[in-house]
Amino acid sequence: MFLNQKKIILGNWKMNQNLDQVRSFFEELETFGDISQGICPQAPYLSILENIRPKIGNFLVGSQNISSEASGAFTGETSIQTLSDFSSNFTLVGHSERRQLFHENDELLIKKINLSMEHGVGVVFCIGETLEQRESNRVNEVLSAQLTNVLPKVQNLKPELTCIAYEPVWAIGTGKTATAKQAVEAHRMVKSIISNSLPAKFSKTPILYGGSVKPSNAQELLENPEISGALIGGASLKASDFNEISRIAANIQA
Ligand code: 13P
Repeated sequence: MFLNQKKIILGNWKMNQNLDQVRSFFEELETFGDISQGICPQAPYLSILENIRPKIGNFLVGSQNISSEASGAFTGETSIQTLSDFSSNFTLVGHSERRQLFHENDELLIKKINLSMEHGVGVVFCIGETLEQRESNRVNEVLSAQLTNVLPKVQNLKPELTCIAYEPVWAIGTGKTATAKQAVEAHRMVKSIISNSLPAKFSKTPILYGGSVKPSNAQELLENPEISGALIGGASLKASDFNEISRIAANIQA
């Protein structure tokens, strides 16, 4: 799913979009053969996306979260089995909002990725430093800990189901994007951490950038070969912006 070397443009809708907005987004959505695209809606909408998602091209449907448990007495949680019943191709794991607001730790993230691998569901594993960590020159240390405390400990991690999203916390929802230079530097760090901690078959793991990606900065970010695609929050809510970013990625790819 993730190893086809095409740029990957994913939207994380977070807790946004009502039913009418979901439907009109998919009416306006444009697909591009040269790239992969995908959307992570709120969980209940996964069931309707099964019918209205584009059936052609490389269009992925993702979940924003999964339970770390397979089933049982976990009120309010959604199981990986339920999500894969509704054709979820992948799930986000470790998003900074989950880490910060819901106190998700490495142990929990390992359990979530284990379950995803067992069910053949892809994982977009999100990592990124805070502003304070960046300003104290700890980016490499933080990314290294976030990656090596989790990925090498997953049983049966599969390269074709693994994708990383570098999302600096200070750039999420702030309108402050990492410069292309900052993003490329961080992506190189991630690549080198992966090559030192995972088997060689992970050398082509795509690394997406996330954090205030919008049509006006997509070109300068995506034109770098180190940046395999984008994980977009706010700008993925409007089909016109998502289409524009996708078009930019497709033109770079072509
Ligand atoms: P924004 O694009 O709104 O900054 O959000 C990024 C993000 O968190 C995607 O997962």
